[in-house]
Amino acid sequence: MKLFVPKEKSPETRVALSPDTVKRLSGLGFDVTFEKGAGELSRITDEALTAAGAKVATAKDAGTADVVLKVNRPTAAEAKGYRKGALVLAAMDPHGHESDIKALAAAGISTFAMEFMPRITRAQSMDILSSQANLAGYQAVIEGAAVFDRALPMMMTAAGTVPAARVFVMGAGVAGLQAIATARRLGAVVTATDVRAAAGEQVESLGAKFIMTDALKDASGEGGYARELTADEQKAQAELVASHIAKQDIVITTALIPGRPAPKLVTKAMLANMAPGSVVVDLAVERGGNVEGSKPGEIARVGHVS
Ligand code: NAI
Repeated sequence: MKLFVPKEKSPETRVALSPDTVKRLSGLGFDVTFEKGAGELSRITDEALTAAGAKVATAKDAGTADVVLKVNRPTAAEAKGYRKGALVLAAMDPHGHESDIKALAAAGISTFAMEFMPRITRAQSMDILSSQANLAGYQAVIEGAAVFDRALPMMMTAAGTVPAARVFVMGAGVAGLQAIATARRLGAVVTATDVRAAAGEQVESLGAKFIMTDALKDASGEGGYARELTADEQKAQAELVASHIAKQDIVITTALIPGRPAPKLVTKAMLANMAPGSVVVDLAVERGGNVEGSKPGEIARVGHVS
């Protein structure tokens, strides 16, 4: 069976193949091929993949593949190049992109949406959400700290003391918990919020303070995910956030609800109340964002910061 891995479309830098998986897939009997340069942006050379047993191909070779492995859902143009009956495994991100999914079905392509893999123990090695969310939570703190123009830990010098930075993490799922742990390791004073009551204990076990309005007891939904809040709950949460956020140096938002746009948690008015130099990192930006005005891949400056 022929398996093909294309080069992803910009701005994606990841690739759905590594020398290790080449060996495993070849061991299962697949004839593994990849588009020249597919791993370049992940620092995986063509030589490393061929040394593991894969063959270099061109984008056109997708047309003869039985299985296509991708990071992201194929674009319409990419899918045109696949043969009818091909199987595509990728993060399909179907919510809000229903017409793209229908077009794939109409072209006779079968797809596995890897993000819908049940998050059960037996399927953990195929859980694409946890691995990536974990890294994203870490990276959010690193990037936030790099933009923030003071230190995260308390700095005691003979000339005076600079207090530790205050970091607030909104959404304490996989990404949020990793952000809390990373910010704590860097010496920040960390608080966090979530709408699932179970998250409170997890936040506290990492040494951060959990804050949540009394108006909200528990908004756990199906499968351990959050449900959307009612209008009253949203109002109570917004009041709590507005007063807390004004005292924070770095805010990291990670709140998501499966199949829904990301909840708007930080308004422009809340941003205006933050101290100059504060930094907000919105990890939910691809699903509409938790922060009003945030844009994917961009640093938006609010107020008169030069
Ligand atoms: P997610 O990416 O869907 O959402 C991130 C976080 O945002 C969640 O904790 C959610 O409760 C929170 N959130 C949603 N609306 C919010 C709002 N209005 N304000 C504040 N926070 C809000 O969730 P994620 O990170 O994928 O994990 C969700 C759950 O699944 C967790 O309980 C996690 O422990 C569990 N899980 C279980 C796994 C397993 O192997 N059994 C693997 C991965 C996650």
